[in-house]
Amino acid sequence: MKQILVTGGTGYIGSHTAVELQNAGFEVIIVDNLSNSSIEVLDGIEEISGIRPVFEQFDLIDKEKVDAFFGKYPNIEAIIHFAAFKAVGESVALPLKYYRNNLVSLVNILDAMDQFNVPGIVFSSSCTVYGQPESLPVTENAPILKANSPYGNSKQISEEIIQDTLVACPKLNAIALRYFNPVGAHPTAIIGELPLGVPQNLVPFITQTAAGLRNQLSIFGSDYDTPDGTAIRDYIHVVDLAKAHVVAVKRLVESKNKKPFEVFNLGTGNGLSVLEVVDAFERVSGQKLNYKIVDRRPGDVEKVYADTTFANEELGWKAESTLDDILASAWKWEKKIRGIE
Ligand code: NAD
Ligand code: WQD
Repeated sequence: MKQILVTGGTGYIGSHTAVELQNAGFEVIIVDNLSNSSIEVLDGIEEISGIRPVFEQFDLIDKEKVDAFFGKYPNIEAIIHFAAFKAVGESVALPLKYYRNNLVSLVNILDAMDQFNVPGIVFSSSCTVYGQPESLPVTENAPILKANSPYGNSKQISEEIIQDTLVACPKLNAIALRYFNPVGAHPTAIIGELPLGVPQNLVPFITQTAAGLRNQLSIFGSDYDTPDGTAIRDYIHVVDLAKAHVVAVKRLVESKNKKPFEVFNLGTGNGLSVLEVVDAFERVSGQKLNYKIVDRRPGDVEKVYADTTFANEELGWKAESTLDDILASAWKWEKKIRGIE
């Protein structure tokens, strides 16, 4: 069985990916320092897939620990590197916390890949690298615009660090996956997203409002140049996203990649407005949502959604879930963790 290291594997996207990797016959080794996830997630992964992944708890910014880890597990064939901090607002207040965590851990991993002969890495990137694209849907060839947060910049710099490393180490290969807006939970509601504190993202804020944890959803802006005036995004089910990682890992371990560094957009290709998401949630959940329109949120782009042609054709992968599937899974998860019948 092929061994895959999943960094950040007890986190939101990592845990769903660990399940899909195990379902596909890979042996998963998770490294996480539990800075934004909890150890119980391992029980959930085991309950769904029947297999408990190997787990090592340490901080990837500690180079000695990273090297000791690769010494202990000499048969790892590829890495999926999810571990990072991801709160855009916090990154503006604490840029060095973000640069240190997101960049130093990547550097340590790339160093170890060279030293311990691990040839492939899948990197979690983001559509944030495109900013507000000039034309939509956005393809992988769209220009990278100046990032509007240290978090976004850490993703841009990470992609550059990977590319520079591949030039210097031709035996290494990488796939950067640029996620659009990952949402939803596993359909079993055994694992899902666990935001700390007040959620910054739309779907967790909606489900927490419906569950009574928040009084009201604020919709940030209704004066955008969109059909209903609210901003447009490409919401992708986290399980569809997880499955794309399995395809990407297979591509690397089977040496089917066509270039040392490949980039794929992971989205659905459908742009949805905030109000469309709210309406769909009310329909799917049967809950009336208390919301009000407020000013735009600084730094938000007006509309962004993916051109998925390259990912669909080259990876043979396509997002399958509908918006209703996504919202039903998010609501089922919220009800489960809040003990709502
Ligand atoms: P998450 O916070 O749920 O998971 C990240 C995990 O990494 C957490 O379990 C955390 O404890 C761990 N971690 C962080 N720093 C670490 C370190 N130094 N050493 C060891 N473990 C560490 O986040 P997520 O939503 O699952 O995101 C996963 C990746 O996808 C991140 O790189 C994120 O930037 C990227 N991404 C996320 C989104 C999104 O909307 N969720 C969108 C685009 C890209
Ligand atoms: C979606 C839409 C908001 C909350 C962020 C990061 C991005 C990526 C994904 C990691 C926007 C609106 C939201 C609320 C609202 N993460 N909204 N009320 O901003 O597209 O992307 O997560 O890489 O880097 O920036 O996602 O879910 O925050 O917002 O009206 O309470 O919902 O204005 O139009 P976003 P989001």
